[in-house]
Amino acid sequence: MESVCAQADHPEMDPYGSHTMPLYQTSTFKFKDVEAGRRFFAHEAGGATHSYSRLGNPTVQQVERTLAAMETIDMENEGEAMLFGSGMAAITTGIMALAAGKRVLAQEALYGCTSQFLQEDAPRFNIRVTNIDPNDLISVQKALSEHDDVGLVYLESIANPTMRVCDLQAITDMAHRHGALVMVDNTFATPYHIRPLNFGVDLVAYSTTKYLNGHGTVIGGALTAEKGFFEATELPVFRKNFGGVSGPFDAWLTLMGLKTFPLRMKQHNENTRVVADYLSTHPKISRYWYPGHPSHPDAEIIDRHLVNGYGGMIAFELIGGMQAGVEMMNRVKFCTLAVSLGTVDTLIQHPASMTHSVVKPEIRQKAGITDGLVRLSVGIESPEDIIDDLEQALS
Ligand SMILES: Cc1ncc(COP(=O)(O)O)c(C=O)c1O
Repeated sequence: MESVCAQADHPEMDPYGSHTMPLYQTSTFKFKDVEAGRRFFAHEAGGATHSYSRLGNPTVQQVERTLAAMETIDMENEGEAMLFGSGMAAITTGIMALAAGKRVLAQEALYGCTSQFLQEDAPRFNIRVTNIDPNDLISVQKALSEHDDVGLVYLESIANPTMRVCDLQAITDMAHRHGALVMVDNTFATPYHIRPLNFGVDLVAYSTTKYLNGHGTVIGGALTAEKGFFEATELPVFRKNFGGVSGPFDAWLTLMGLKTFPLRMKQHNENTRVVADYLSTHPKISRYWYPGHPSHPDAEIIDRHLVNGYGGMIAFELIGGMQAGVEMMNRVKFCTLAVSLGTVDTLIQHPASMTHSVVKPEIRQKAGITDGLVRLSVGIESPEDIIDDLEQALS
């Protein structure tokens, strides 16, 4: 992955021989003649290579090639990727394409806007939604058997913000036996730690806003799959017509981020392990969730699913609950109180009042998103600085 990423911005063929991928900041492309344009739109060989940036842009496609290679780095089959203007554009386009007129079995604990889309918006488009706890395989099997209209099972590989990890292999096997597809949001884990296609997952979603860009300069998203899946499910047409494409500049910034992605992930991992060790014995912390700690409820699944470490995210609760958490977050100085995650600097936030405030309180409670939960995205700064700040904020 290091090599794929370090050369992410090498264009296959630039007319001027540019070493790095140019930013094709253009909405439209010139046709040599009418025949070139006609052939492009008729999908015939020998026509123009590009027509209009909503239908394809060289800078965007360079990111897509890189993401596809990263996702399938240890697979025989080739992959494909589509870049979007945001993680939510990728997720909603994917769900609409795969589940229109069908039922989605959706994990209870999901990123707030995904949860809101599934609970409130999707049913308005004739998508029926049933919540599942993917860590209870018997109930997943029951839901699949009870409903004969399930088209899609929707999961997060590491759930935001509860940090639960589910058995992708087992759920995918069950879903496929019932003729349903599986879509997984892999934003927290990234392809560095989990490559869901290896477990039979059909479609993978990302908010590239997070680790893949890494610098906090972009809102973006992506879908990845094995080659052929997009055409088979008409995803390119859905993206073209819903129009949630990435702008070329955002794609270019993502490309710049991808060059150091594995290096950043390595440091996120190391720092998070050190910060998690510190938090695990802190007298003011009542509970904490970090995939790298044996106390994690899904330790056995984590062993089978994660590679290269455990990622950069920690969730915890303070003795004193919500009030204690609010006071602590108001006191941080070195860490930044902000939503988002996966940036090179450390971010801390309160899901119940911020990222997950759009989720109905009863669903939050059921999904384990308690009012006292604090979410920490550990950056690549010196870990001592992060710990010093947490120490003063907790004292
Ligand atoms: C797990 C997860 N998925 C999807 C999204 C949505 O991504 P975006 O903000 O890029 O639309 C987020 C945003 O925080 C997220 O945390």
